[in-house]
Amino acid sequence: MSRVKILIVEDAQLIAVHLQKILQNANYEIIGRAVSYDEVMDICKKKVPDIVLMDIMIEGEKDGIETAIELKEKYDLPIIYLTALTDGITIERAKMTNPYGYLMKPFQEEQVVTLLEMAIHKFTVENKLRESEEKFKAAVASISEALIVVNEDFTINYINKSAEDISGLSLEEIEGHIFTEAFQFLDYATHEHIVNIWKYFNIDKKEQKFDSLYLLHPSGKKVPIGDGSITPVFDDKKLLKSIVLTFKDITQKLKNDQKLKEIEKTKLSAIIEGQEMERARIAREIHDGLGQTLNAIKLNINPLLNAPDKARAEVDLKNLIGEAIMETGRISENLLPSKLKDFDIATCLLSLANQKNDKLNISFESTEVKHDQIGINKKINLYRIAQESISNAIKHAEAKNLNIQLRGENKSLVMTIEDDGHGFDVANRKEKLLEGHHGLQNIEDRVQIMNGIIDIESNANLGTVIIVEVPYDGTKIAKV
Ligand SMILES: Nc1ncnc2c1ncn2[C@@H]1O[C@H](COP(=O)(O)OP(=O)(O)OP(=O)(O)O)[C@@H](O)[C@H]1O
Ligand SMILES: [Mg+2]
Repeated sequence: MSRVKILIVEDAQLIAVHLQKILQNANYEIIGRAVSYDEVMDICKKKVPDIVLMDIMIEGEKDGIETAIELKEKYDLPIIYLTALTDGITIERAKMTNPYGYLMKPFQEEQVVTLLEMAIHKFTVENKLRESEEKFKAAVASISEALIVVNEDFTINYINKSAEDISGLSLEEIEGHIFTEAFQFLDYATHEHIVNIWKYFNIDKKEQKFDSLYLLHPSGKKVPIGDGSITPVFDDKKLLKSIVLTFKDITQKLKNDQKLKEIEKTKLSAIIEGQEMERARIAREIHDGLGQTLNAIKLNINPLLNAPDKARAEVDLKNLIGEAIMETGRISENLLPSKLKDFDIATCLLSLANQKNDKLNISFESTEVKHDQIGINKKINLYRIAQESISNAIKHAEAKNLNIQLRGENKSLVMTIEDDGHGFDVANRKEKLLEGHHGLQNIEDRVQIMNGIIDIESNANLGTVIIVEVPYDGTKIAKV
């Protein structure tokens, strides 16, 4: 460690020299000796000491105490006074400058060294404290939560930057003001002015939390605040010392909540709409297909009974009945592909991939799938997800190839569907939902029902990959 630098301010030559010797013996560095205010300032401009030994009575207009005050202001230096005076008033004045001690003339070597060591130690400790206090203050100032400290007399002690931003008030203008006069709160439900926030929150007790309130901005705007707390701080004697308030501006959170609600509503109506559409489709098919065939059968019954060429009419009727049966099969196949009941998911997906398709070449692979652990519902969900993805790849991506992979992990099943089309903006997909596109949302809902997780990645050059992971036993998979 470098040596401690000392400035001696003493107009009595003999004393100054004596002091210098003592200090040099004790391995301190003397950076100079001054006899007046001007000399002190000159020396300090060139080299700032670590500590100043200051005679109270020095030459010139300004005495030692005035010089010390300026040194403290400019350089924040610790001062030790040298004095022969027992003059009470001067000592009182000196005290105001918070000196690190007094050396009474004439001094003893031991006394000087001890006092200096103590002063340096005290100064170092204080500096550290101040540094950590500054760090703490900087941290408090920079947190995104608003923080307000109120004194025991309910005046404002401190507000951080976030509190300034949210309230539109500045610490400078409201420090020392009565808190309830500076800050106006409104009840969240009734919008009524809260006259006494302390009573409202019963601050005699311990910490109180609040979810939502309005804070009145000077502009007249009501800022919704929440995630709040009001904490009274008591001293040893259980007397109120201060109150700490924290809260956040929840404007954005409320907007997000609102958006989520809208999406939930759209989702619900999507499900209902989907069901209605499906019903309409089935009704149409029954009406147009099965209905027409049955009508034709009915019309053919009478002619058959009277027909001259009974044999031919019989064939026609049989054909019609055959058609009706096939039609029934087709409708029910569409409602629930029968293969899903009879075959494992890999077989069903392979058959889906092999269905004739002019636009898209679909490939399918599967490895290590535990088929005995995949029930009918999971099969239907996975199958519908694959169907929707294929339809999207054809409809939107102009993809040439699509690959479906089914891979069994230890506890879960991973289905990856990859197309080489022109991709889309995945982040924007919730907006699409609001516009009435439901396919991807249905995929997500199905994954959620299976307690699985989904990842969709899309890129204009590479195409789209959808990865779905579902647990075999239904235990929720945590998203990583
Ligand atoms: N594989 C894909 N490649 C490119 N764009 C896609 C792909 N999948 C989805 N999209 C885009 O995402 C949007 C939303 O898809 P989604 O399946 O939810 O709706 P949709 O197919 O338009 O309508 P719906 O499925 O309800 O009939 C699509 O309109 C499309 O722009
Ligand atoms: Mg779709």
